Amino acid sequence: MRRIFVHAFGCQMNAHEGERLLGLARDHGYQEALSAEEADLIVLHTCAVRDHAVQRIIGEVGRLTSLKRQRPRLKIGVTGCVAQADGAALLARARGLDFVVGTRAVGRLPSTLRRVDAGERVVDVADGAYLEVGDGPIRSATTCAYVTAVEGCDKFCTFCIVPYTRGREYSRPAAHILDEVRRLAATGCREVTLLGQTVNAYGRKGGGRGEGEVSFAELLRQVAAVDGITRVRFLTSHPSHLGDDLIEAMATTPEICPHLPLPLQSGSDRMLAAMRRGYTVAEYLERAAAVRAALPELALLSDFIVGFPGESDADFEQTVAVVGELRLAGLYGFKYSPRPHTKAAPLGDPIPESVKAERLEQILALQRQIAAEHNQALLGSRQEILVEEASDGWVEGRTRTNRRLRAAAVAAPGELLQVRVSGIDHGRLVGTTETAP
Ligand code: SAH
Ligand code: SF4
Ligand code: F3S
Repeated sequence: MRRIFVHAFGCQMNAHEGERLLGLARDHGYQEALSAEEADLIVLHTCAVRDHAVQRIIGEVGRLTSLKRQRPRLKIGVTGCVAQADGAALLARARGLDFVVGTRAVGRLPSTLRRVDAGERVVDVADGAYLEVGDGPIRSATTCAYVTAVEGCDKFCTFCIVPYTRGREYSRPAAHILDEVRRLAATGCREVTLLGQTVNAYGRKGGGRGEGEVSFAELLRQVAAVDGITRVRFLTSHPSHLGDDLIEAMATTPEICPHLPLPLQSGSDRMLAAMRRGYTVAEYLERAAAVRAALPELALLSDFIVGFPGESDADFEQTVAVVGELRLAGLYGFKYSPRPHTKAAPLGDPIPESVKAERLEQILALQRQIAAEHNQALLGSRQEILVEEASDGWVEGRTRTNRRLRAAAVAAPGELLQVRVSGIDHGRLVGTTETAP
């Protein structure tokens, strides 16, 4: 049997789509390879969101092409967001590349593979239906699983390439999502993370609209009610769709974890307007406060971009102030990088690299200090973990707030355990187990 290796870059949606690609390839007679070196088909499942994505992928294809000397039958493909954005140009620039398949064309992967087998070099970046794959994705873990709720994005933030690579926002029908969750639960899955670039926009457009369909809050409740599911998470949320009904569902459904990635991007209203984020800092803070009032133990996470064109020292100081105020459980900070197709692309990249680097380091340093304080507060606390791995008297899992925790205990994957936090090792919590409450 031939073997496929998928290397997925980028966000959780991409990681999960890599699992769906594996499922499709299996339906076409491929088995998963453990490394690129032993594969007959290598797929780079790419991300275009920042930096020199295209150059890096072309470099990587070049490196992999040298493997073809020993193994002439080896095929190499590029899928995902760079494939969608750059299409045929990639084939022209990377001679060892056999196919380029865009984000909405993955459903046609089997026919593409047949054409590649026949010796063709194929580019398919045409539109296609949302992928409801045959036997489904091949997931790397059983206890926790990603399930797609919303595909694409309609927000068109001026810095962001995602709407151009992922296409329009589309909500999967609730019945399909629930079916998938029930099948997962039947095979041992206990934690489901619903995915979407704006996951809480669920139900606005697509299969999730119309009679009998549900709001995002209701979808979360129904997923949480599936027999066997003990935890539900969702990412990424957009501040503009964080309604009171969602907050209430989080507060009243014990399975929904108090864990909320909610990107703010900047502490300056002027920058938020230039980014076309659709909210002000005050509105974001009001929503964040509302969730925290309902869920005091909430882990709030956020993303920030520094050095967007026109960001002055005063704008950036406002970002520093808001990072200090939010006391996030996690912060992802990025230096602005202009993206093709986007509204901001014509503005260029006027802020010097050194200024962007300094600004980024300043907020990261502030966040490190806040994280250390959070860690101190966790010492001695009792946390529930869902066991994901167990061996030799040790278990590892995550807390409800999504912190990794390792403890000496005998338990099986899928079990919930109460653990007392006794230490912190390289940012990972260590604990001792207690008997049930
Ligand atoms: N849908 C999510 C984020 C998607 S992209 C949201 O609306 O927030 C993930 C993160 O990458 C973004 O939150 C942003 O901080 C960062 N990012 C996106 N485009 C970028 C760019 N052009 N330059 C730098 N960072 C960017
Ligand atoms: Fe990009 Fe904005 Fe959509 Fe997030 S909401 S994916 S940042 S366009
Ligand atoms: Fe990257 Fe595409 Fe995700 S650009 S962040 S892989 S949607």
